[in-house]
Amino acid sequence: MTHPRVLITRPLVAPALQAFKAQPWDLTVCDRVTRAELLVAAKEYDAIVTMFSDRCDADFFAAAAGGPLKIVANHAVGYENLDSVAASAARIWLSNTPDVLTQATAELAWALVFALARRLGEGERLVRSGQWGGWEPQQLLGMSLAGKTVGILGAGRIGQYFAHMGQGFGVRFRYHNRNPQPAFEQTSGAEYRSLEHLLQEADILSIHLPGGVHTHHLLNRERLALMKSTALLINTGRGTIIEEQALADALRQGHLAGAALDVYEHEPLVNPDLITLENAVLVPHLGSATVETRTAMALKCLRNIQAALSGQQPPDAVNDPAINAAAISHDTGEMLY
Ligand code: GLV
Repeated sequence: MTHPRVLITRPLVAPALQAFKAQPWDLTVCDRVTRAELLVAAKEYDAIVTMFSDRCDADFFAAAAGGPLKIVANHAVGYENLDSVAASAARIWLSNTPDVLTQATAELAWALVFALARRLGEGERLVRSGQWGGWEPQQLLGMSLAGKTVGILGAGRIGQYFAHMGQGFGVRFRYHNRNPQPAFEQTSGAEYRSLEHLLQEADILSIHLPGGVHTHHLLNRERLALMKSTALLINTGRGTIIEEQALADALRQGHLAGAALDVYEHEPLVNPDLITLENAVLVPHLGSATVETRTAMALKCLRNIQAALSGQQPPDAVNDPAINAAAISHDTGEMLY
């Protein structure tokens, strides 16, 4: 009997990989796949686990159409790397990993708030340089959180959880979202603002939006200029939301006090100007990077594949091949512009 062929484009965390190996599947785990290899895989596998950095576009689904591929299970909540219309036309399911990374990503956003507000990157560099001469009353003074206004851009699952976690910090929340969220306002005390008003009011602005065409350069040069020169900007959403050169210019010219970024416009490339700036905290896309979260994400991929291979709708489907239409079931949970 032949087993379904399943490809994983990067090694997954050990407990999840064990669970994949326990399935009656012919499993291939790659270190990474090139574009050419992915296009070949499209014709050969029954299921593929992709990372958000693997692009499955119209060419990929044209290659897969009529072949064995039943599902592309994205190991990410965001899925702007997958062409859902082309996938549906090719009768192939797409799934993502909602919910399980909400907490980890919100935790990282707060970690970045603190790192930036308390200048932890600069402090670490000072200590490691061997140049630290001891405690001084005016050394590396940062910003206290208490009494500040925290703006949340995108009140989906992660943005809302970020506000929930921040209830003890003595800050007030304002938010912008495609639609106002009255229930969220009730539980968090957050008040709705227009995008422009939010940018003007926030002392700290945290971005929790998905990527894609709707949010591309939402924070362009003009909108960044609306922010206070004392404000801090945090991005754990997608790098493409910010016009990165405009951000680097604003930070260098003192029009914005600081930025902490987990995501970049041209990942894994980072704007060279940002790298030279002391008032930028830069980390390598760690939003969901905990053992618990990555295990849960991979297990979601497994369950989605199990469903698709047995002819069922995957629990985290983001398209519907039966009606050949774009995303229907659920989006990333963040705001779609
Ligand atoms: C990571 O960025 C994800 O979308 O899961």
